[in-house]
Amino acid sequence: MPTYRAPRGTRDLLPDERAVFDRLTRLATDLTERYGYRPIETPLFEQTAVFERGIGEVTDVVEKELFRLAPRTDEAESWALRPEPTAGIVRAYVQHGMQTWPQPVKLTTTGPMFRYDRPQAGRYRQFWQFDVEAIGDPGPAIDAEVIELGHRFYAEAGVQGVEVLVNSIGDPVCRPAYIATLTAYYRGHLAELPATEKDRLERNALRLLDSKDPDMAGLNAAAPRITDHLCEACAAHFDSVRAHLTALGVPFRVEPGLVRGLDYYTRTAFEFYVSGREGQQQALGGGGRYDGLVALLGGKPTPGIGFGLGLDRVALVLAEQGHAPAATAAPLAVVVGADPDDTVGRLRVASRLRAERLRVRADLARRKLGRQLEAASKDGAHFAVILGDELADGHVQVRDLQAGSQRLVALADLARELARAETTHRHG
Ligand code: HAM
Repeated sequence: MPTYRAPRGTRDLLPDERAVFDRLTRLATDLTERYGYRPIETPLFEQTAVFERGIGEVTDVVEKELFRLAPRTDEAESWALRPEPTAGIVRAYVQHGMQTWPQPVKLTTTGPMFRYDRPQAGRYRQFWQFDVEAIGDPGPAIDAEVIELGHRFYAEAGVQGVEVLVNSIGDPVCRPAYIATLTAYYRGHLAELPATEKDRLERNALRLLDSKDPDMAGLNAAAPRITDHLCEACAAHFDSVRAHLTALGVPFRVEPGLVRGLDYYTRTAFEFYVSGREGQQQALGGGGRYDGLVALLGGKPTPGIGFGLGLDRVALVLAEQGHAPAATAAPLAVVVGADPDDTVGRLRVASRLRAERLRVRADLARRKLGRQLEAASKDGAHFAVILGDELADGHVQVRDLQAGSQRLVALADLARELARAETTHRHG
């Protein structure tokens, strides 16, 4: 056992896996550009109050899972690592006066989040999210556009059979009456409630519906449904979101038990699952509308909607579905030499080729030419550039390791020749 290991609930992404994350991140960038989002980067930590107020104090994310940073003695502020990016992005929207920009302001970010959760497959203490936020449009058309964007991300990433579950969780007009009904329902079953849920009942009954405790499953299935208690405006909004989704051809299912684990949501709520695995598997991603959040964090009332997609879970599902990870690129050429000690010569030639934007490795081990060539083949390199006696009049041997052929090339033509050979190889 090594003395030091990555902290529990975190993991190292080794090159092959990191390459999958790179691919997903590039896809996220490409897709969000197509949909008119602009990138934003907010700090990995914020004042704790941003999360407490934004996400809600009676949520798992804040109550149990927040990574609070130990305060330094002389500072009054307290900070926590971000468990999700929405609260920080909305804080930035307010701080930088983005309500004066053309609305909606469409922002995206991809990066690590932190939750002190109980680690298991697909649930980590440091995980990656691809996030989008569209702030300043009350919907409902944009709700469908955001959901469609998420759905397209999975399709283009190669994840098969992703289904969208949607719900409406009402707004300040209709939710209070629903919560009263729900509280009354749970009070009638007080003896069956686990201790934590009992404790939460009077503070935030909606959270009980979202409980991960298996003892709650039966009670929750029979609980009153928010969709039966929506006010007229919320019901119309929800109808329109569904009509837009249908028109766009996004497959979805209404799931009245879907309430989401964060307090800022109003109206539209959604989650992405691999079809048929909603029960056993955690969501691949989720999001919703948060029409009260900007005001909650000190801005003027402004509606918003967004999602966060868990990239760790996408990578897991891709592997399960047999999606081969992208191979790490092999060098186009390795520069080797007859004189084992002439590392300067090999580096010089490699450096010149790299300046021409070619992928080149220099063999820097002081070993025989035969061993250098063997290593070049093992690397999967297409060519070996061999420095020998011909160097004296400005030439090198170029061996095509795949075809087994070899020819003399002037140093002055080397970069061009290699680049041309690679292009022919790729397209031929
Ligand atoms: P969330 O549902 O808490 O929403 O998280 C979104 C996604 O992040 C989850 O569906 C899951 O894929 C991934 N995720 C969450 N926790 C973990 C974990 N411990 N390990 C691995 N993956 C995890 C939000 O965070 C909202 N900010 C989404 C949003 C954006 N709503 C509006 N805008």
